[in-house]
Amino acid sequence: MTLKKSASLALMALAVSFFIGCSSKEDRDKYDQWYGSGSKAREESALVKLQSDRKVAAEAADKAKAEAAAKPAAAPAAPGDTSAAAAAPAVAAAPKRKPVPADVSALLNKHACFACHQAYDKVIGPAYSEVAKKKYTPDQIVELVHNPKPEHWPGYPPMAPLAHVPKADIIVIANWINGL
Ligand code: HEC
Repeated sequence: MTLKKSASLALMALAVSFFIGCSSKEDRDKYDQWYGSGSKAREESALVKLQSDRKVAAEAADKAKAEAAAKPAAAPAAPGDTSAAAAAPAVAAAPKRKPVPADVSALLNKHACFACHQAYDKVIGPAYSEVAKKKYTPDQIVELVHNPKPEHWPGYPPMAPLAHVPKADIIVIANWINGL
């Protein structure tokens, strides 16, 4: 009996000492921080942070909205700008990239000049718009078609002499080239 009592007393003492041991100040602080009254402070600070985060997000959204509100003023100008910019090259390109007149086109086809030349693009031979920059007279062009001078066009293969092409046809082509 006494043994049982003393044993239970000892057990209680052990439990108390355990409790005291565990509830040292640091332990309690630590416990509090996560589970006790400290957790309230943590929750509060988390809430404060959440609110400040939301505020920052709201401010960012407001700012974006303000920017979006400011944009409509600029927005009509932007499409206007792009259309003007798109229209400008179109207008600039229009006089530049003229369609080839039917009669000239027929001659260029007939004599197969189109196989090697395009009006504005380099194919095998130079673009006629590049030839135009050389400012040849029509007679010079006739001579160059009949007797090409490959040295005029470094980097290009030599054009075969096309002696069979009538002078009159080349004159029509030459006048068109010089108008490019
Ligand atoms: C087989 C391809 C080919 C054909 C077809 C061809 N050319 Fe050329 N042409 C060239 C090449 C390559 C050059 C540049 C090298 C040269 O002048 O030899 C050239 C150059 C020219 C030049 C510039 C000459 C110079 O010295 O600046 C003229 C003008 C020209 N060609 C007109 C014509 C005409 C007009 C025809 C059709 C009657 C024609 N070419 C057919 C390939 C061709």
